[in-house]
Amino acid sequence: MVNIDWNNLGFSYIKTPYRYLAHWKNGEWTKGEMTEDNTLHISEGSTALHYGQQCFEGLKAYRCADNSINLFRVSENARRFQDSATRLMMPVVPEEMFIEAVTKVVQYNADYVPPYGSGATLYIRPLLIGVGDAIGVNPAPEYIFTVFCMPVGAYFKGGLKPTNFIISDYDRAAPVGTGAVKVGGNYAASLLPGKEAKERQFSDCIYLDPATHTKIEEVGAANFFGITKDNKFITPISPSILPSITKYSLLYLAKERLGMEAIEGDVYLTELDQFSEAGACGTAAVISPIGGIQLKNDFHVFYSETEVGPVTKRLYDELTGIQFGDVTAPDGWITKVSSLTE
Ligand code: PLP
Ligand code: COI
Repeated sequence: MVNIDWNNLGFSYIKTPYRYLAHWKNGEWTKGEMTEDNTLHISEGSTALHYGQQCFEGLKAYRCADNSINLFRVSENARRFQDSATRLMMPVVPEEMFIEAVTKVVQYNADYVPPYGSGATLYIRPLLIGVGDAIGVNPAPEYIFTVFCMPVGAYFKGGLKPTNFIISDYDRAAPVGTGAVKVGGNYAASLLPGKEAKERQFSDCIYLDPATHTKIEEVGAANFFGITKDNKFITPISPSILPSITKYSLLYLAKERLGMEAIEGDVYLTELDQFSEAGACGTAAVISPIGGIQLKNDFHVFYSETEVGPVTKRLYDELTGIQFGDVTAPDGWITKVSSLTE
């Protein structure tokens, strides 16, 4: 068994033994292989390095009580990966190839899927990058698709304990730019605002809609949701936020399992008082309650700075219950990963 303190993991790089690697050359994908080498040797002219021609995904594998392993909505990640690739003029990875790569990476690194009950999970990172000799601003001649993984704990310190966020003066994406796809440039743009937020003891920034700066869009690495005082689940709608798979799952669960009205709509800064609870949601963030938001000189508290609100907690229990196999999943949400020896 591997020697890891599963109960005290943060969100940091850990080198696991195996990763998947495939090349796109001469108009087609090579057969993917598993490798132990965690470095990539690429041309200095690679478009991923110069022009940000790359995209990535993030999903998790969950250890269940019976020791089996679950993937959560992996087809949705495969499809979003294709949307990101298409937006940046990269070849798409077929859905079957994506799922096979993710499955193999989990199977080969199964010892690193944290035990049930530790709260930790195996974070899986698919990555597609433009490579090869080039210098003009054009799509690359070749591509690398790789998938690697590592055990992780909470993304925002505190996990289910609320933390505070600050409304950013910066934008992470343009109104009709690349905000809705998972490309590195969006995250490069969020580094400085994120650092400034953390220096002021906030967990991260919340970005506003880039056109009018009047509505909440999303957090640097997660979507935003609020629970209104009359028990509606509301999450922002916008062409420049990442369509979060967790967010769409919560919209469904709020409606179908908690009997709430669940809405994608505008969340105006002037209407924060309508919310009794708020949170950030995403694969890495899971559901992270938002204690309060700093907006210029005002600090707006939602439910509490120290306690998770009751609706957020119910949503958390339902979502994580499904992911870890304790609660019945809607059709198609869970894919079991068989062990290599089966
Ligand atoms: N928004 C951003 C900017 C993200 O990076 C992520 C993480 O993937 C999310 C939202 C949440 O998306 P998902 O729930 O699909 O992980
Ligand atoms: C995720 O939740 O998977 C993310 O990609 C967020 C962040 C680590 C970039």
